[in-house]
Amino acid sequence: MSRLVYIFYLLVLVEGSRKTFTLDQNTETNATEAKVEGTIKLPPGITFSGVITFGDSIVDSGNNNNLRTRLKCNFPPYAERLGIAKTIPAYLNPKLKNEDLLKGVNFASGGSGYDPLTAKLVRVISLSDQLKYFQEYKEKIKVTVGEEKANFMVKNSLYLVVASSNDIAHTYMARSLKYNRTSYADYLADLSSKFVRDIYKHGARRIGVFSAVPVGCVPAARTIHGRLKRKCSKKLNEVALHFNTKISPKLDALGKELPDSKIVFIDVYDTLNDMIENPKNYGFEVSTRGCCGTGLLEVLFLCNKINPFTCKNSSSYIFWDSYHPTEKAYQIIVDKLLGKYIMQLV
Ligand SMILES: *[C@@H]1O[C@H](CO)[C@@H](O)[C@H](O)[C@H]1NC(C)=O
Ligand SMILES: *[C@@H]1O[C@H](CO)[C@@H](O)[C@H](O)[C@H]1NC(C)=O
Ligand SMILES: *[C@@H]1O[C@H](CO)[C@@H](O)[C@H](O)[C@H]1NC(C)=O
Repeated sequence: MSRLVYIFYLLVLVEGSRKTFTLDQNTETNATEAKVEGTIKLPPGITFSGVITFGDSIVDSGNNNNLRTRLKCNFPPYAERLGIAKTIPAYLNPKLKNEDLLKGVNFASGGSGYDPLTAKLVRVISLSDQLKYFQEYKEKIKVTVGEEKANFMVKNSLYLVVASSNDIAHTYMARSLKYNRTSYADYLADLSSKFVRDIYKHGARRIGVFSAVPVGCVPAARTIHGRLKRKCSKKLNEVALHFNTKISPKLDALGKELPDSKIVFIDVYDTLNDMIENPKNYGFEVSTRGCCGTGLLEVLFLCNKINPFTCKNSSSYIFWDSYHPTEKAYQIIVDKLLGKYIMQLV
């Protein structure tokens, strides 16, 4: 998972600018605008001042590039190919100037997770460090635009939290002496709701938290856990589903408890699962292998345009590598999600 939030982000920004445009000009929408309008409708006058993301490689647009880790997320097709690296800056990009931070910023780090052990195992940026960077970010935008405007921006940005896949797919094994499926999912849900509380404390108000995905069905999990037939790992999917069952009511409760907040559980599980089970219904041919390499185990750093084994037609694949969906798959997910959730976040 890597481009889901990027596309979400782009659509929100497009929507934001369209809104300003139509408010000022009061004109008819043109074809591009109408297409966006078909998926999301914000009430008049409502915009997000930026999009701020926390979590794992679903959202990482380059924060790992200065770290000593194999999990780098800086090459096409994860950012550049969509031209997105330019629009959603990675906070740790050394070339970043303070002005670049004003449409939002990405703190996420590929390989990270709710469980502090997840980031440690692969030496990437933990959520608690991402929170520290967020505090630093707030100071920086204060310097750039002044305290009042900075506070407005912090309050009116859309916050997206995307984690749990790495915890469930990787760290759960390392934790299996201490936790079973249910207790590990409970542990993750507690950490997730604590993280939401933390960013609220630091000023976030509109917060979308992504569900766990059917991580047992990504090609790598099929290869490792699925025996010869490469079936989905039921165990991993159960942890994911249990996490979702636990986190959803916790977020509802937080939304009621914390004044002025809009906290929304964004459920991706069923949509992606249905795509994997019925790829043809969505125009895909292949859902059990990734487009890149053998499609069985390669992830990220082995998958780039230099790899001679990248498939010819990625649009017939749901997965780009053995872990991350293709751009077309993301687009379908986001189209389904936006209309459903965006109204609850404004
Ligand atoms: C449609 O709207 C977009 C965004 O406001 C604008 O950039 C573009 O020029 C418009 N196209 C036409 C044909 O009016
Ligand atoms: C998991 O562990 C908890 C205690 O840590 C226990 O109450 C529960 O019964 C266990 N569940 C299973 C399915 O073993
Ligand atoms: C690629 O795959 C898609 C979906 O299966 C199909 O519609 C399209 O015709 C294919 N393109 C090529 C060049 O094979």
